[in-house]
Amino acid sequence: MIKIMANRIYLQFIAILFLMHGHVLCGGGFNTQFIASEAKALLQFKHGLKDPSKLLSSWILGNDCCHWKGVGCNTTTGHVISLNLHSSNSIDKLQGHLSSSLLKLPYLSYLNLSGIDFMQSTLPSFLGAMLNLKHLDLSHANFKGSLFDNLGNLSLLESLDLSGNGFYVNSLKWLHGLSSLKVLDLSGVDLSSCKNDWFHDISIRLHSLETLRLSGCRPHKLPKSPQPELNCDSLVTLDLSINYFNSTIPDWLFENCYHLEYLNLSTNTLQGPIPYSIERLKTLATLDLSQNRLTGSISSILGQVNGQNSLKVLRLSNNQLNGSLETSLHQLSKLVVLDLAQNNLEGNINDAHLANFSNLKVLDLSFNHQVTFNMSKNWIPPFQLETIGLAKCNLGPQFPKWIQTQKNFSHIDISNASVFDTVPNWFWDLSPNVEYMNLSYNELKRCGQGFSQKLKLKTLDLRNNNFLCPLPRLPPNSRMVDLSHNSFYGTISHVCEILGFNNSLEILVLSSNNLSGVIPNCWTNGTNMIILNLAENNFIGSIPDSFGSLKSLHMLVMSNNNLSGKIPDTLKNCQVMTFLELGSNRFRGPIPFWIGAEMQILKILSLRKNLFKENIPTTLCQLKSLLVLDLAENKLTGAIPRCVFPAMTTEESINEKSYMEILTIKESISDYLYRTGNGGFRLIKSIDLSSNFLAQGIPVEMVKLVELIALNLSRNQLVGSIPSNIGELKNLEFLDLSRNQLSCAIPTSMANIERLAVLDLSYNTLSGKIPIGTQLQTLSGFGVEGNSHLCGEPLEKACPRNSWFKDAHCSHSEEHENDSNHEDKGMDMEINPFYISMGIGFSTGFWVFWGSLILIASWRHAYFRFLSNVNDRIYVTVVVAYNKLRRKLHAQQPPM
Ligand SMILES: *[C@@H]1O[C@H](CO)[C@@H](O)[C@H](O)[C@H]1NC(C)=O
Ligand SMILES: *[C@@H]1O[C@H](CO)[C@@H](O)[C@H](O)[C@H]1NC(C)=O
Ligand SMILES: *[C@@H]1O[C@H](CO)[C@@H](O)[C@H](O)[C@H]1NC(C)=O
Ligand SMILES: *[C@@H]1O[C@H](CO)[C@@H](O)[C@H](O)[C@H]1NC(C)=O
Ligand SMILES: *[C@@H]1O[C@H](CO)[C@@H](O)[C@H](O)[C@H]1NC(C)=O
Ligand SMILES: *[C@@H]1O[C@H](CO)[C@@H](O)[C@H](O)[C@H]1NC(C)=O
Ligand SMILES: *[C@@H]1O[C@H](CO)[C@@H](O)[C@H](O)[C@H]1NC(C)=O
Ligand SMILES: *[C@@H]1O[C@H](CO)[C@@H](O)[C@H](O)[C@H]1NC(C)=O
Ligand SMILES: *[C@@H]1O[C@H](CO)[C@@H](O)[C@H](O)[C@H]1NC(C)=O
Repeated sequence: MIKIMANRIYLQFIAILFLMHGHVLCGGGFNTQFIASEAKALLQFKHGLKDPSKLLSSWILGNDCCHWKGVGCNTTTGHVISLNLHSSNSIDKLQGHLSSSLLKLPYLSYLNLSGIDFMQSTLPSFLGAMLNLKHLDLSHANFKGSLFDNLGNLSLLESLDLSGNGFYVNSLKWLHGLSSLKVLDLSGVDLSSCKNDWFHDISIRLHSLETLRLSGCRPHKLPKSPQPELNCDSLVTLDLSINYFNSTIPDWLFENCYHLEYLNLSTNTLQGPIPYSIERLKTLATLDLSQNRLTGSISSILGQVNGQNSLKVLRLSNNQLNGSLETSLHQLSKLVVLDLAQNNLEGNINDAHLANFSNLKVLDLSFNHQVTFNMSKNWIPPFQLETIGLAKCNLGPQFPKWIQTQKNFSHIDISNASVFDTVPNWFWDLSPNVEYMNLSYNELKRCGQGFSQKLKLKTLDLRNNNFLCPLPRLPPNSRMVDLSHNSFYGTISHVCEILGFNNSLEILVLSSNNLSGVIPNCWTNGTNMIILNLAENNFIGSIPDSFGSLKSLHMLVMSNNNLSGKIPDTLKNCQVMTFLELGSNRFRGPIPFWIGAEMQILKILSLRKNLFKENIPTTLCQLKSLLVLDLAENKLTGAIPRCVFPAMTTEESINEKSYMEILTIKESISDYLYRTGNGGFRLIKSIDLSSNFLAQGIPVEMVKLVELIALNLSRNQLVGSIPSNIGELKNLEFLDLSRNQLSCAIPTSMANIERLAVLDLSYNTLSGKIPIGTQLQTLSGFGVEGNSHLCGEPLEKACPRNSWFKDAHCSHSEEHENDSNHEDKGMDMEINPFYISMGIGFSTGFWVFWGSLILIASWRHAYFRFLSNVNDRIYVTVVVAYNKLRRKLHAQQPPM
């Protein structure tokens, strides 16, 4: 370290010395002819940059600067004409600021600083004065801010690449000045404030442009018919992907730009059919229209592109194309890439259809309506595929034998492909290059020898099959392994081997198998692990101490095993834990205080159905992101802490989307998801503390958790009244306070909770008149029985005339509820032995249950995880109730 600094100081010293004598030639004589002032300018430029990996180590005073790395000179004049310092993926890339000393290189015509990290600075305006520039590449260089109009001074510029930065621009008028421009890449520049002018300004240049890339620029819409008539004869490459174009594909694109060889309109929301004029593109080699909402029949589209013998890459995936593949497929036999995944295609494909596809390398027909592969037994395909994408195609019931001829694939997805067979032994060793293997959702049997030789395999997904065998040895470089929902058995004693190998494993899901034995204590090398799911097996013993080394762990799921003991204190090192589910085991001891103190970003904490005892630690109140707190069915005592979890008080403070992208995670947390109105997903916000020995009152702080959807405090020993302003929990759909010793009247505000579908207050000592409100009386999931002093509808018992039943001490206590609750504060954490002894003995009497089942199945499923006894009876009740509810909702629909 000291040495490096010393070196740096030495270099700076040299540089300063040199700058003081700028007129001295830097080459020290010989036959070089570079210009001293330019060498000086280069060193000044270097001075602005940090160079941790010594990329510029050749830039030293005394050497010929025309031989410095990245510097190019005119051999006759000695002037610096090019500077090419693009940083590749290296982590130790050049970093710093862009020095205006470049202005002292007046002959510079090529400047490539792509990939250097300019640390979010804005584009320096001096660039507009580098009038000799012909090529300027500042792509992916971590700039931001507005582009300058004076870029328009660079009239010699032939190529300009500003892509992959955080630029925005209000006008593209400056393009008018770039009269020599042939290549323009503004991908990622925000054009959303350019209004409709953007296209006009571009089209001024379009007659000479050969390459135009505007991916992810969000410009205003594509014009339907541009005025004046557009000249784009010379355009060869056009990339308009990832914008928000939602029109149809305009005809002019194909009629005017008929020399296109590369066209990328993917990831927009383009609608309607693909125009017939696409026939005009006789030299088209790459067509990517994937991820839009294009409609029409595949055979007419393929008919239109049929004339193009040049077409090599066709990507139409993720649209709404329909029709049958059989009739049209053969027309495409020149293709290298055929990606038609995620449409509504059908077809019964046999040997003949694919007979002429000798160049095919990528075949993706996944997730269509009904594509069947009916190949003859000994078919030998003419291709060697690199990508085999046949998810949800009909390949079975036998394991497709033709795959045996494919020896070079890196990606194979034959998930959900109706294969009900044993996996032949040849399969596992087929391709040494395989990186991605997905055989999930079939009924496959028989395991391979292990994956230990599969050096490149990074993703292995065998979930939901019938594999009945000991856990295989895992691929040594894998990043994601999902073997869940099979019948793998035996111990997992060797599972940590691959952690020691090179520590690439990030996701390991072994849930829902028959694995057993203790979890080995060998995780010290698992520092990159993000998800570990061992739920629903037969593991015994305790959580190993070395889990504390899993410092990147976001998600730990161990529920439904036979694990016991205390949660080890080392787990507090897992400080990025977001999802901790240890339910349905036999863990004991107090709930560790450090969960709240150390796991600062925890969102879901489920410890339900264990043997945890003593108080709920108040440190839990520090969990700012907590969405789900499930501590039900333990032996917890004391008062409910007065937590105001911020994430439960605000609407959607966090972005779960990043999690959704990994399917495995989505599946693991599906129990906590529900669908929102706009088709997205949200995590449920809920608290379940039911079936413990919790005493004292319901803290008034709970009323602040206005985003709560479910609150279950039933089967405890809670006393006092229900907080009078409980109606502020406007989002509640499920509220269960039954089987406590709550007293006094039902607060009238409760009638205001409009979404409430289940309200159970039964078996308390509530009294007085049941409040009248549109909601409560019609609510079928309303349980009030077992409160002998309640009266009024829906109970049979009418309230006494004139004066309704009123308990003097209650009206008092409701008014002063806040004060009295605060007085309790000192006692919060004390165990009240009186209430413990009273705990048990609920009758299994009538238990009104039914869900607010406008919700999707996973939410329904989730719902019942909040309730204690999930059993068939409940489901029957639910179905009946669901239909009732639907009828009710239909009756209430406002007239259109
Ligand atoms: C080098 O400079 C000479 C004289 O100005 C010029 O004719 C020549 O084209 C230049 N060469 C390059 C490669 O720029
Ligand atoms: C800049 O360098 C990168 C990396 O070599 C290269 O891909 C890119 O084409 C160069 N830009 C120009 C304009 O030559
Ligand atoms: C560069 O452009 C700016 C704004 O477009 C203009 O004001 C300025 O005069 C131009 N400078 C040169 C040297 O052409
Ligand atoms: C396209 O998007 C705009 C703005 O987002 C919207 O106003 C318009 O209705 C959309 N058009 C279609 C056909 O969806
Ligand atoms: C089209 O653009 C998308 C998004 O920029 C990119 O991911 C895709 O690779 C491109 N397609 C082709 C065939 O180059
Ligand atoms: C294809 O979808 C269109 C609507 O986009 C529909 O009119 C047509 O009948 C469908 N064709 C087939 C063969 O399903
Ligand atoms: C495949 O190519 C052969 C020879 O070029 C041709 O005779 C045959 O018709 C083609 N088959 C299909 C299905 O296009
Ligand atoms: C598969 O092809 C054979 C002839 O090769 C045919 O007899 C059979 O009916 C086809 N099966 C299906 C499901 O189309
Ligand atoms: C962890 O990795 C190191 C170095 O690769 C190795 O020496 C050690 O045995 C590994 N530990 C475990 C528990 O695998």
